[in-house]
Amino acid sequence: MKMISLLLLILSSCLCATFVVNVTQSSYEAEENHSITLEWTFTTRTLGSNRERFVDCSLLTPHKELDLYQVHKGVEFPESQDDQFTGRVQSDKDVLREGRIRLHVSRLRTEDSGLYLCDVKTEDGFGSETCRLNVSGEF
Ligand SMILES: *[C@@H]1O[C@H](CO)[C@@H](O)[C@H](O)[C@H]1NC(C)=O
Ligand SMILES: *[C@@H]1O[C@H](CO)[C@@H](O)[C@H](O)[C@H]1NC(C)=O
Ligand SMILES: *[C@@H]1O[C@H](CO)[C@@H](O)[C@H](O)[C@H]1NC(C)=O
Repeated sequence: MKMISLLLLILSSCLCATFVVNVTQSSYEAEENHSITLEWTFTTRTLGSNRERFVDCSLLTPHKELDLYQVHKGVEFPESQDDQFTGRVQSDKDVLREGRIRLHVSRLRTEDSGLYLCDVKTEDGFGSETCRLNVSGEF
């Protein structure tokens, strides 16, 4: 019995160590009123399962943190999203199963510029990664 729990302990710590969250691009440039797709990838071994999968993405600016996107066990929480992004964010829930977070942000504003952070927690571990978005206006 002791051996089994020791083995489980070793196994679970190995799983945690191999869990990673990546960005496909570390920085994006875009123009005001255009749209962009921000993308993250994370380790999955339970394909097709959204069990215990928690994703929380937000925009960090020097002054504040704005919630962009939250999904827990396959259920999205649009009510947690900051007003700045209302009606402008589309997610691709199908690719989430494959370990990809794809967030399409339309009608970009200059104040959307900043650091985008996604926290991901699954039964395999926890991780987070950021990418930078720079939205330039006219001139
Ligand atoms: C994360 O990036 C590393 C290094 O580029 C790569 O080896 C790994 O497969 C990536 N993992 C995921 C889940 O994207
Ligand atoms: C954002 O883009 C503008 C226009 O291309 C550029 O002048 C500025 O340096 C960029 N800012 C950052 C933080 O990359
Ligand atoms: C974006 O749209 C607004 C409102 O239509 C307009 O005032 C602004 O000039 C546009 N910006 C660019 C860079 O086209």
